[in-house]
Amino acid sequence: MTTQDLSATQPAAPGIQPNVDLLRFTTAGSVDDGKSTLIARLLVDSKAIFQDQLEAVERASRSRGDDTVDLALLLDGLRAEREQKITIDVAYRYFATPRRKFIIADTPGHIQYTRNMVTGASTAELAIILIDARKGVLTQSRRHGFLATLLQIPHLVVAVNKMDLVDYDQAVYRQIVADYREFAARLSVQDIVFIPISALRGDNVVDKSRHMLWYDGPTLLHHLENVNVGASRNLVDFRFPVQLVVRPNQDFRGFAGQVASGRIAPGEDIVVLPSGLRSTVKSIVTAAGEQNEAVIGDSVVLTLADEIDISRGDMIVRTRNLPQKSNQLDATLCWMSETPLNPQGTYWLQHTSRQVKTFIAELNYKIDVDTMHRHPAATLELNEIGRVQLTTTQPLFYDRYQLNRATGSFILIDPYTNTTVAAGMIRGQSRQISDLVEQETTPDLAAARKKSTDVVWQSGGIAREQHEQQNGHKAAVLWFTGLSGSGKSTVARQVEQRLFARGCRTIFLDGDNLRHGLNGDLGFSDADRQENIRRVAEVARLGFEHGNIVLASFISPFQRDRDFGRSLLPAGRFFEIFVKCDLEVAKRRDPKGLYAKALRGEIQNFTGISSPYEEPQSPELVVETDLQSTEEIVAKILAQLTEAGIIPAA
Ligand code: ADX
Repeated sequence: MTTQDLSATQPAAPGIQPNVDLLRFTTAGSVDDGKSTLIARLLVDSKAIFQDQLEAVERASRSRGDDTVDLALLLDGLRAEREQKITIDVAYRYFATPRRKFIIADTPGHIQYTRNMVTGASTAELAIILIDARKGVLTQSRRHGFLATLLQIPHLVVAVNKMDLVDYDQAVYRQIVADYREFAARLSVQDIVFIPISALRGDNVVDKSRHMLWYDGPTLLHHLENVNVGASRNLVDFRFPVQLVVRPNQDFRGFAGQVASGRIAPGEDIVVLPSGLRSTVKSIVTAAGEQNEAVIGDSVVLTLADEIDISRGDMIVRTRNLPQKSNQLDATLCWMSETPLNPQGTYWLQHTSRQVKTFIAELNYKIDVDTMHRHPAATLELNEIGRVQLTTTQPLFYDRYQLNRATGSFILIDPYTNTTVAAGMIRGQSRQISDLVEQETTPDLAAARKKSTDVVWQSGGIAREQHEQQNGHKAAVLWFTGLSGSGKSTVARQVEQRLFARGCRTIFLDGDNLRHGLNGDLGFSDADRQENIRRVAEVARLGFEHGNIVLASFISPFQRDRDFGRSLLPAGRFFEIFVKCDLEVAKRRDPKGLYAKALRGEIQNFTGISSPYEEPQSPELVVETDLQSTEEIVAKILAQLTEAGIIPAA
């Protein structure tokens, strides 16, 4: 198997015009769930299969003594025929009904399901998730749903299969629907439909089941024929990755490829990336002759008005609609190899028709698909999904996956084995963390981070990694939170002293001090505290990006605001340290006499008295100043930093 040209292996269906009503879909489920049987059932019952092939299967099934036709055999037969021809482990099957044409991205069942789904799904508009009625909703069913949303497949069908094996019991079906809905509520699924079926017996696949009269929804095929697709296709941004330079003779020179998105017509101005050379489209040639337009999905040859130098891997776009350019990418990775991700390794990154080398600059976290929680991770294993920052040796011309599934996706290839190890979706440029913030914090925080549209994040200075190397330690933010008078600053100052003595670069940010200058305009309402912490978090991040250990000491009473600070940093670099102290003890200490004032009503919104303090939900460290000595606490913090690899062992 070779893994070249992910995009090139998604051909226009023979005899199918990409513009007529067409649905591309993918199926997710392992062999046991009945995926092959389902596909075969669709082909057979919709009469899309040749009669002679069907008879051969019937003979084979009978010779094995089966009373029903083993439809999976049919696919195996077809697969054997194809195997010599396919270049990647996805086979595309075509079938048509009078209403619609279909392309199924199908994958041999023996290969792991995540991998199947990711490679098959980059152009799919619908995903069928198969659930075995006897087994119910499994981790794998959740993973499929999560992947489908990650891949932005707009329509999901949950086919509850093997209903015949649970006596077509409505209660079983209902329970599965309820379980899956509960999970799906946490995903941003646009459209999800449940259908009880038996692929083997043919119930509700093409023909309505006589055994499940309690179900009054559509059959699977009916739904596939009628689901409203097309709205999600990107017809705006013209992107044409050049796969081949065609030069049959002296007089003809054209560029072959598949339109990844958008549309183009003869006479329109184009620019070639990366060279930046400009020209005009002269003609659009296909096997069927010249066309006056090419749209997303069309495989065509473009000829240009000028003789300019173009080679495989270049991308042709419109002059006034350019993709992004960067060699620092923020991406979601689906790991598809038995060999785990090597964070120190080098991989080939295949993006459209281009291959570049890449390093993993940072593995931010992995996602637990059962709970949707993120966990710090040292690697990604088979089927795991994580967030990474990548550095490529040459810049890529890309669009965010959200905007363009073709130019926003890539695969990683192991340079030694030449196998595909991961599929990736580009979220944006690395370090432009605004994306993350917009999605993951409250709208007002995100809005506050919005910048003028005319400013662009500048990278290219001295990288944090370089600072870190020179400093001999890693950058981090130590966020001390706790009541006024809890001892935050006392502890933080001593930690800073110790780090300084060891030659570490530090920055100290203190609530009382910052409220004199930078935050002098802010009071203590909830909104002002939020803004206070937002500014501090941004400053902390800047210090962090310059390789420092930033010590921030603020009451920061709200979890949401502390989470915002955390969201600006890579996983493992933000240490939320809860400086715990009994309120009564803090009141007694009252170093600034503020509790007394607050209790007399002379200060409004005083934390602990007339304003709340939300204790950290999952801090990296809790220290108790009313129980432990400062020395003990400082030693504990330094030990934690050493253990986390931020500072070297003393
Ligand atoms: S935060 O809530 O916005 O994080 P921050 O840490 O910056 O507060 O400032 C807290 C300091 O401001 C306290 O140590 C205290 O000296 C002073 N202060 C004045 N008024 C208040 C108040 N109403 N609540 C809490 N702290 C106050």
